[in-house]
Amino acid sequence: MRITGAHVLLTGATGTIGVALAHRFVRQGARVTLVARTLEPLQALGQATGGKAFPADLCDPETLHGLVGRVEARHGPVDVLVNNAGVDATGFLTDLTAQDLRRAIDLNLTAPLELCRQVLPGMLARRSGHLVNISSLAGVATFPGLAVYGGSKAGLTHATSGLRADLRGTPVGTLTVEIGPVVSEMMNRIGRHGPSDAAFARVLGARLLTHLDPDDVARGIVTAIEQGRPHLRLPRRAAPIAAMTGAPRALARIALSGIPARAVTQRPETRSAP
Ligand SMILES: NC(=O)c1ccc[n+]([C@@H]2O[C@H](COP(=O)([O-])OP(=O)(O)OC[C@H]3O[C@@H](n4cnc5c(N)ncnc54)[C@H](OP(=O)(O)O)[C@@H]3O)[C@@H](O)[C@H]2O)c1
Repeated sequence: MRITGAHVLLTGATGTIGVALAHRFVRQGARVTLVARTLEPLQALGQATGGKAFPADLCDPETLHGLVGRVEARHGPVDVLVNNAGVDATGFLTDLTAQDLRRAIDLNLTAPLELCRQVLPGMLARRSGHLVNISSLAGVATFPGLAVYGGSKAGLTHATSGLRADLRGTPVGTLTVEIGPVVSEMMNRIGRHGPSDAAFARVLGARLLTHLDPDDVARGIVTAIEQGRPHLRLPRRAAPIAAMTGAPRALARIALSGIPARAVTQRPETRSAP
């Protein structure tokens, strides 16, 4: 997918990784529509990047309903959807509230899939598009205190692999991004939970993971979209862990490759989303 001239719909735009992504997309010649809840940083980022602020709470079902249609009516067809908004729900399960649990699943899993569902009919009709879902290595390896967050991200990774199988033979690409720790508000919150902090200290100390720079993450994501790569895993030293987890999906892909592409593509192309 060519980024120059593309319209990118970016969620979680005002967070640590979102800001780096917005700047990187614009530097590469894309125009961006920026989604987050809080208007002020969204407008500031819009001014800094020339992007369009589109305030929305993705955990609110009424706001989520028809969101892509409203964005496209105002700013034109979406070429690249980047589902980057996410939230941790750090702690032992019984220490979380029902609302913490619902918010993590809604924002990390339901909203990305719903936005993919809404944007896909247009992309298939235009015969062009790319879906980017920002997952986490916490969805690959399990960490104490991250059962809910890791579970939601594992779900997102798995669902994106399934979508990729459904979209085989169509011009719509998918990218799953599995990243390790980036110094951010989210990592600060995770660090305040003793068992999670100790686990990260151990893996970082053993150099199985390193802290990532958000600009490097953004550059990697944009390059992966341009190259049509299905997965991006950072830091690279975590690749063996991710490859072992991904092996069943890779085997399934090989097994499915005997199914004619038409049989796979027929259903998505005939559907439309409200
Ligand atoms: N940071 C890490 O170490 C790390 C590691 C692996 C994966 N990731 C993933 O990378 C992505 C970005 O992480 P980050 O560290 O940049 O996050 P962050 O700094 O905490 O930013 C989160 C962004 O999401 C927005 N947001 C939060 N709740 C929302 C809602 N209900 N509706 C709409 N927008 C909402 C926030 O803006 P408002 O609060 O104004 O809405 C903000 O723009 C996430 O999916 C995260 O899971 C992060």
